[in-house]
Amino acid sequence: MEVVIRNHEHQCGATAADIVADAITSGAATLGLATGSSPLSVYRELIRRHRKEGLSFAGAQAFLLDEYVGLPPSHPQSYAHVIRTEFTDHIDIDSERVHSPNGVANDIFAAAEEYDALIRDSGPVDVQLLGIGGNGHIGFNEPGSSLRSRTRVKTLTEQTRRDNARFFAGIDEVPRHVITQGLGTICDARHLVLIATGGHKAEAIAAAVEGPLTASCPASVLQLHPHVTVVVDEAAAGQLKNADFYRYALKYKPPQQKY
Ligand code: F6R
Repeated sequence: MEVVIRNHEHQCGATAADIVADAITSGAATLGLATGSSPLSVYRELIRRHRKEGLSFAGAQAFLLDEYVGLPPSHPQSYAHVIRTEFTDHIDIDSERVHSPNGVANDIFAAAEEYDALIRDSGPVDVQLLGIGGNGHIGFNEPGSSLRSRTRVKTLTEQTRRDNARFFAGIDEVPRHVITQGLGTICDARHLVLIATGGHKAEAIAAAVEGPLTASCPASVLQLHPHVTVVVDEAAAGQLKNADFYRYALKYKPPQQKY
């Protein structure tokens, strides 16, 4: 695991965008996309590079991490809609190849299994972008999620619903259930890139990176993955005990070594 500490959010975005752009230009075609606030700086930077530098996503496909149960893709807060407005409508990816779980399927349990099979059959995901919840969730794998879980229906904690109420008219509008890629599904990706900014993420980042491997902090599963980059600003790095070593390792990183 490599921990990259940057001064500002836009620098975090640029670092994660470097990783995605490198993958895309070297032929990797499958992206894993997160929603929420954390990856927005990455998407802004990738859109800029597409417009100004000709970075093309024409051959790419993408898989979203999760979706709210009960929200159709036309709903402004469905993740299928959010990813279009924040990112994929502004680049040249084929919209038919941007996949998300079907939160309005008649059988949401079967839809979750089908989504997992689709990723398995058309993957693996080359670069998976991740955010982290204040309680250590990735995707919508709340504390207690099996570290080997597959895509399935999950219940959100009240804390996560409160956190996400800012995107809705109020907490009552936030669905209680989601379909989320499991921790095992996420870990099938070749390269995991976790982005976190702000002091409210510091405790979760410290638990994920330096705490014990435990389902109580689902993001700690990253410690088992062979290729992880954690990109944080100073505030989100605030509780990392080994922060000085991460800075040192980055400063002396062999120039030919990629993220
Ligand atoms: C969203 C997702 C979640 C978020 C997390 C952090 O697709 O998978 O794990 O990444 O809840 O959300 P923000 O970035 O809004 O703080």
